[in-house]
Amino acid sequence: MSRGGGRAEPGAASRACAARAVAAVLGAGATLDAALGAPDLQQLAPADRSQARALAYGALRWHHRHRRLLALLLDRPLPGRDRLLEALLSVGLFQLLDERQPDYAAVSATVAATRLLGRPRLAGVVNASLRRLQRERAQLLAEALADEQARSSHPAWLIARLRRDWPGDWPRILEAAQQSPPLWLRVNQTRLAPEAGLARLREAGIEAAPGPVPGALRLARALPVADIPGFAAGEFSVQDAASQLAAPLLGASPGMRVLDACAAPGGKACHVLEQAGGDLDLLALDADDARLGRVRENLARLALPATTLRADATTPAAWWDGQPFDRILLDAPCSGTGVIRRHPDIKILRRETDIGPMARRQRQLLEALWPLLRPGGRLLYATCSILHEENDDVVAGFLADHTEAAAAEPPAGTLPGWLRCTRHAGWQALPGEADTDGLYYALMTRRTG
Ligand SMILES: C[S@@+](CC[C@H](N)C(=O)[O-])C[C@H]1O[C@@H](n2cnc3c(N)ncnc32)[C@H](O)[C@@H]1O
Repeated sequence: MSRGGGRAEPGAASRACAARAVAAVLGAGATLDAALGAPDLQQLAPADRSQARALAYGALRWHHRHRRLLALLLDRPLPGRDRLLEALLSVGLFQLLDERQPDYAAVSATVAATRLLGRPRLAGVVNASLRRLQRERAQLLAEALADEQARSSHPAWLIARLRRDWPGDWPRILEAAQQSPPLWLRVNQTRLAPEAGLARLREAGIEAAPGPVPGALRLARALPVADIPGFAAGEFSVQDAASQLAAPLLGASPGMRVLDACAAPGGKACHVLEQAGGDLDLLALDADDARLGRVRENLARLALPATTLRADATTPAAWWDGQPFDRILLDAPCSGTGVIRRHPDIKILRRETDIGPMARRQRQLLEALWPLLRPGGRLLYATCSILHEENDDVVAGFLADHTEAAAAEPPAGTLPGWLRCTRHAGWQALPGEADTDGLYYALMTRRTG
């Protein structure tokens, strides 16, 4: 719907870019982060870009609800490969159902986006579908939301897993995954006490509150890091509050030799260093060179010393100097089922068949790194998964096969009450419980003698 002089309708460009990003996730299996890096989106004005991001997040967060609604709304099933149409309709549904903007503006801008997407012939079906939702909203929603996948907007396999693993908690876990996450900061306590950090933010007019972990501050509204006073100078870092439990649990003290085997982008490694006043011999390893660059940036910003190395943690023979470590942090690659509120694309990209191979990879990492720990030393195993198969089952299987390994007591005062004890050897932060992500931790020690 161009106006005279060819100017596009306001808001059409952000809808078009959001639809392209959503289609890249649905059709090409791209991550949402990668899809949002697309050049068309980067060229938008800042306000349009943030609207496009919000629309893409919303459409993917509610993908399973929208798939069911579209099955009811469309006379014919969506043509198999028309991901762009599905994506644009999903963007439109999100606006009508969840955003507080006038319906007519949302429909008109979404219809206008068909032209920017080079698909003007879709204008009719987009217009008809969205207007039908407006007319028959209550009835269509009642019918669609009778289905559990649509109601929770999660895939059936994941609902079944969560029911099995967390019989008393699964409805709240599903609900928490549908919320927009808060922005958590970690105060760099080598520079500022947590109270001073809070005061610094408030002086700058930033509303914040202390979190459930010492040094964690929750911002009332997300904002770019460039707007956080002292961020560039290393006074604060962005880190979810549950992730801020890793350093205290690992308990590395000054002078220790520490390995962070899966370190990028370096949030936990930097916190471990901060906690020891920078006085550690820390090796930060990651298999991904680009991500390792982020570790170096964070170390530089925080003025912390560490050795960084691109290497595969499963093959220490290729990089280990033979000197044992006092502490090892294994923050293993995982399904990410504890961070769905930050990455809603996980619900679309992850398959149930991924979980077994991931658990085998996690066990392989644990087996490879264990011999590098000195007797009496401690290894902290962590994931951002909430599935027992990647957490408790991996650790329990490992402990059963290694008589020299034992579950270790956490350092005094490091375990907040809201963390769940799991069946065998670890602790689980459940998503949303203290407004944190869902992380799992297990601490093991190598017996001496
Ligand atoms: C959960 S992330 C780590 C997050 C990090 N600990 C932090 O707090 O910022 C997992 C990391 O493991 C890395 N990774 C995966 N397989 C690896 C391997 N075999 N060896 C080393 N790093 C690996 C990935 O590149 C990814 O950066």
